[in-house]
Amino acid sequence: MTATVIDKVRVGLDSRAYDILIGPGLIAGAGRHVAPVLRQKRVIVVTDRNVAGHHLDALLRSFDDAGIGHQHLILPPGEKTKDFAHLQKLLDDVLALKPERRTTLVALGGGVIGDLTGFAASILLRGVDFIQVPTTLLAQVDSSVGGKTGIDTAHGKNLVGAFHQPRMVLCDTTALDTLPRRDLLAGYAEVVKYGCIGDAAFFTWLEGHGQRALDGDGSARRHAVMTSCRAKAAVVAADEREDGARALLNLGHTFAHALEAETGFDSDLLHGEAVAIGMGMAFDLSVRLGLCPLADAGRLRRHLAAVGLPAELADLGRPSWDPARLIEHMRRDKKVLDGRITFILVRGIGAAHIARDVAPEEVHALLTDAVAS
Ligand code: GLY
Repeated sequence: MTATVIDKVRVGLDSRAYDILIGPGLIAGAGRHVAPVLRQKRVIVVTDRNVAGHHLDALLRSFDDAGIGHQHLILPPGEKTKDFAHLQKLLDDVLALKPERRTTLVALGGGVIGDLTGFAASILLRGVDFIQVPTTLLAQVDSSVGGKTGIDTAHGKNLVGAFHQPRMVLCDTTALDTLPRRDLLAGYAEVVKYGCIGDAAFFTWLEGHGQRALDGDGSARRHAVMTSCRAKAAVVAADEREDGARALLNLGHTFAHALEAETGFDSDLLHGEAVAIGMGMAFDLSVRLGLCPLADAGRLRRHLAAVGLPAELADLGRPSWDPARLIEHMRRDKKVLDGRITFILVRGIGAAHIARDVAPEEVHALLTDAVAS
């Protein structure tokens, strides 16, 4: 029998440093892996109905095997769960279970469960530990790592929250087998993002092997998740609270946010799909400003299209977009600084930088072209 390979990535944050474990079967072995970081042999698992059906029993069995006491709460699935009402109910339900300060919350699910549970952990009893067990690709490579937690409000997504780092992240790559293809692809957009930001060699690897990772090849999947987590961990360790370099992780997100706001956050457009289109636009803006070779924008689009992600606005099949309205949404983005919209631009694949001085006319012209094409 061959030994299961588990990769480990350390997020270096001094006394709050933690490990991200990546590999197959981590949910079934979770109890053994998390036991060393628990301050009390007791956890409260928070998950949603869909994820519970696939993974809750295996997780709870692993806690039994490791002698860890557990209770669990099952929430409704979907982005709508990430609001004040569900936060309040979650806190009340957890308090009814009489947690102590050393009890750990475990978030089993995608970004919604991770963000909501992490935020609840940050304020429960003035802060308890939590562990992330992300079950979507998007959560494994992005939202579960780095301590951004929060909820959506009527004013927009993630506008209320806290930085609260998990004590451990378990990325079980076999959990991705139960994901619908479209969700897997949406998460893959964030994987491509890491290649575009600062790792041209990883982008080249994705061109050759990304499809295999999407199709279920275990070692390709592990490599894609591990390389993404390593990139994210390095950025978070250098700039936990997004005073500088962490903003690079928002490549494509200013455009994506505008598209999501315009379509309504509960629309059919998935975040990762918006990010894929947004990255294409960020490359186009960089080309327009004379920063990036046209060939690199073409290369990104070709790869997105090759795996089946939308690469152009036209791929969304929506008949009309209004550039002025999209810019209005961008102005309301929480990353606006002194009234100026922040863009992440590129000098090519693997060479992103932060730009706060892009003329609004350039953005308007870019969007006008994109809308017309
Ligand atoms: N998802 C971007 C960040 O964690 O900073």
